[in-house]
Parts: sequence; C-alpha cells; structure tokens
Amino acid sequence: MNILILGGDGYLGWPTAMYLSRRGHDVTVVDSFHRRLWDAEIGAESLLPIRSLRERVALWSELGQPRIHMEVGDITDWDFLEAVVRERAPEAIVHYGEHRAAPFSMLSRRHAVITQVNNVVGTLNVLFAMRDHAPDAHLVKLGTMGEYGTPNISIEEGYIEIHHEGRSDVLPYPKQPGSFYHLSKVHDSHNIHFACKVWGLRATDLNQGVVYGVHTEETDMHPGLATRFDYDHVWGTVLNRFCVQAAIDHPLTVYGKGGQTRGFLDIRDTLACIELAVLNPAAPGEFRVFNQFTEQFSVGELAEKVAEAATKLGWDPIIENIANPRVEAEEHFYNAKHTKLLDLGLQPHYLSETLIDGLLETVRAHADRVDRALLLPSHTWTEGWIGPEAKEQQGGEVH
Ligand SMILES: NC(=O)c1ccc[n+]([C@@H]2O[C@H](COP(=O)([O-])OP(=O)(O)OC[C@H]3O[C@@H](n4cnc5c(N)ncnc54)[C@H](O)[C@@H]3O)[C@@H](O)[C@H]2O)c1
Repeated sequence: MNILILGGDGYLGWPTAMYLSRRGHDVTVVDSFHRRLWDAEIGAESLLPIRSLRERVALWSELGQPRIHMEVGDITDWDFLEAVVRERAPEAIVHYGEHRAAPFSMLSRRHAVITQVNNVVGTLNVLFAMRDHAPDAHLVKLGTMGEYGTPNISIEEGYIEIHHEGRSDVLPYPKQPGSFYHLSKVHDSHNIHFACKVWGLRATDLNQGVVYGVHTEETDMHPGLATRFDYDHVWGTVLNRFCVQAAIDHPLTVYGKGGQTRGFLDIRDTLACIELAVLNPAAPGEFRVFNQFTEQFSVGELAEKVAEAATKLGWDPIIENIANPRVEAEEHFYNAKHTKLLDLGLQPHYLSETLIDGLLETVRAHADRVDRALLLPSHTWTEGWIGPEAKEQQGGEVH
C-alpha cells in the first residue's frame, strides 16, 4: 500500500516507517522537526543518539531496503500538506504528527496554545486534505488512553450503550482527560468522528497506552537506525524514567502514592497494531476506536517491576515516593477493555521480558549521557513551570 506517515521522525514514526517499508509498502515520511526544536527549549535530548531523518533514510537505502520518501514541512501549513496528499495520493495515512507531552502542555499558557494549535489544526488540515484529494484513504490516528481519564466504571473501546428514560443508544464513551495535551486528542477525536459522518471518510482512532522499548527488528539492523529514548521530566514516560534511574543508581521516584493506573505496550506491538489497522481498514463513514495497550500497571507496580528486573541484573535499586506535580487521582478503579486488536490477531510482548531482554542494559550502556537535572519535575499542574524561566514562559510569542 501507499502509506503516508505523519511525524515520521519521531519515536514511533521512524520505526513504523522502516517496519512498513520492509513489508513491501511504499512509505513516505512527513515531519517538521518541531520535536527536535521543542527538545532544545527544554534542554532535553534522546538518551540514545539519533541521526537526522535525512541520514536515517539514506542509511535505510544503503542497507538495500526499499526507498523511504521524505517530505519536510509542517502539517498545520495547509499549502504544504495539501500538496503532499495530492501528489502522493495515499491509501492510508498514519498520523503520529502531533505534540505529545502532557507536562509540556501544562508549563504555561504559551505551551498549552502551542500544543492545542499544533494538534487540532494539523488534524483538521489532514481531514480537509483527505476530503479533497484522498477520500478513500484510511486515516489511522494516534489518540491516547488518557482521553478517557479514570472513571469509576470499565472503559469501553470508544463507545458505550446508554439506557436513559426508556430509550437506548450507543454513544461515544465520556472523556475526562487530564491535561491540555490529552484535551487536544479529545478535540481531534470529535473532529475526525464528525468528518467521517459528514464526508464519509474512514478512520481508526487508536487510543494508545504508554509505549516502551527501543528494540525492533529494524532498529536493531544498525545503530544508525536507532529511535529516540526520552527520560526527562517533560517528554520521558514514567517507565523510561524508572529505567534510567535504576541504571544510574538514583532512587526510582514515584509521584505521590503511586496508585495511578495506566495501560502500557511494547513498541513492537505498536508497529503490529498499526499494520493490523492499515490492512483491515474502517468502512467508508466509519469512525472506529481501538484501545491499544496490552497490560495495565499502577505507577507503584511499575517501579516494582523495574526494580525486580534490575535486581536480577545484579543492580541495587531503591524506590522513593515524591510529591506529585500532577493533579490526578492517586488511587482509583481502572479496567479498560482492549480486545479489538487481539481479535485482529495481535500477539503481545510483555513488560517483564522486555526489561530483561535488553532494555535496561541498553539504557545502562548510555548512562554517561544522562542529565540528572532532567530527572525531577520542574513544573506542577497548578503553577506550570517553576524554574527560573517561569515568568517569561507565561507570556511570549507562540511559534
Ligand atoms: N510514545 C507514547 O508512549 C505514546 C502513547 C500514546 C499516544 N502516542 C501518540 O503517538 C504519536 C507519536 O508519538 P511519539 O512518541 O512518536 O512522539 P514524538 O514526539 O517522538 O514524534 C512526533 C513527531 O511528529 C512531528 N510533528 C509534530 N507536530 C508536527 C507538525 N505540525 N507537522 C509535522 N510534523 C509534526 C514531530 O517533529 C515528531 O518528530 C503522538 O500523536 C502521540 O500522542 C504516543
């Protein structure tokens, strides 16, 4: 298939591009390199050294793999995106091209605006470009399990049957997101659902859990094909932070009581899910929602899993609870359904094995690149950025 990957320079976009290319699809990656710029603002850097997109694409060809096409531009720029969709005429669009850090979106007004404008406008442009130039294409859009929040009932896959005053209907599952970033994903979901309804577009919203791991068959082909690993307090996921902390003998810092429970999945399962979604497209007019994760853990359980795996490697991890910068329930019910991708044939990998099968050791091999100052939060959900730059971050231009 002819596939566009928006956000193809990112943590998931680059491994997805190689995975689909190796399986015979004609892949074009699109990226604005905004992520590399936003990293510079925070002073963060991938723990694993990553090459530029141009170098990675060239290396892929040098290794005898099919050519991956590259388009550099911002999908919030209508003229750019329209030209790409018109000229490439994709059959599927995998949309990773968004801002993806909840903490970044809570740093200040400016950061909330950057996040929501980038994500909501970019996705709106994708929908209009599909309507005008690729109406049969299938949009595979990355949402997040964080759209649902933590309701006191089971979380369904996108829709719930409601009985009310003698009538019933199947309606979108209520959303209670926990940051301006997660809210941007909810706004996207509504816009995509509406576009499917009025224009007959086909879309799959993948409400993905937290992804971990850096090893895929393709990234392991050459160190120059590595994907990024974020561990800092803004972009790093809780699991990555724990892995780094264990690797440098720093306490594993659990926010608050550690009862916050979320869904997780291995990066290899993300790639498999994307391929399953692409090969089994939604019908015209259908807005399909899959919950994309394989296991759920509380933050406390996650710290224990990492500590257990690190101990098996002969390390000496300790766990410490610190003040929670976020406003979130620290103990709650959580039962999220996730059967639709399993029904399509997903064969999950599990965290305990991935930690032992190379992830922790890969992290330790790069321990000299860890910036300890980036491990602890310098923001709160109520006050935003609490570092010395805090004041100037509140105002300023959005760019
Ligand atoms: N990584 C996770 O654990 C996770 C979990 C759930 C959902 N997701 C979603 O998956 C997607 C990809 O996540 P990731 O971890 O690869 O993020 P990432 O930040 O590593 O990659 C996103 C890429 O999109 C690009 N981009 C952003 N805005 C753009 C724009 N306007 N035009 C062109 N390119 C743009 C960035 O430059 C970056 O290279 C995101 O939408 C994210 O919300 C990720």
